Amino acid sequence: MTDTPPADSRPARIGILTVSDRASRGEYEDRGGPAIIDYLGEVLSSAYEPVARIVPDEQPLVEQALRELADSEGCCLVITTGGTGPSPRDITPEATEAVADKLMPGFGELMRKVSLEKVATAILSRQTAAIRGGCLIVNLPGQPRAICECLDAVFPAIPYCIDLIGGPYLTTNEDRLVVFRPKKK
Ligand code: MTE
Repeated sequence: MTDTPPADSRPARIGILTVSDRASRGEYEDRGGPAIIDYLGEVLSSAYEPVARIVPDEQPLVEQALRELADSEGCCLVITTGGTGPSPRDITPEATEAVADKLMPGFGELMRKVSLEKVATAILSRQTAAIRGGCLIVNLPGQPRAICECLDAVFPAIPYCIDLIGGPYLTTNEDRLVVFRPKKK
């Protein structure tokens, strides 16, 4: 079945939030944010606009960036990278939960399951997902190679999740990734 966007479909704004002390100070090249942008370019066939930000691992700043991306920038999806581990400064899941209307624990469960098939250290990521208003927030680990591994697992669920929260109708290049939406009756 082909995904046909409804006539009123809007271009999607998608937030990409790199959470890293060193990248925010310019001491380290941000590789996670660009890897997410590359992934979206490969997978999405519908129109979208990336809105990229970099913040240090400070919970108030991560929360503020998530609120701005969801509320003021009108993003239907925000993908974060970094800050999901056990170190004292890893606070991305706490910031995500603090701004959440609803938690979406299935995303973290599935990403850890597939990641554990690749690397034993996947158990160290506390990555989660949440809904804030009309925005789905998904945490990814900071390792650039984790981005494709995790997104390939959960991206099939993202367009329908965004449908359910009133967002734009996302479609994918079906030779790369097929999304699941229940069949219309
Ligand atoms: N998941 C995948 N798929 N691939 C990885 O390389 N790295 C792990 C884990 N999850 C990894 C992964 C490691 S080493 C850590 S410490 C945690 O994610 C947390 O990473 P973060 O603090 O950069 O978010």
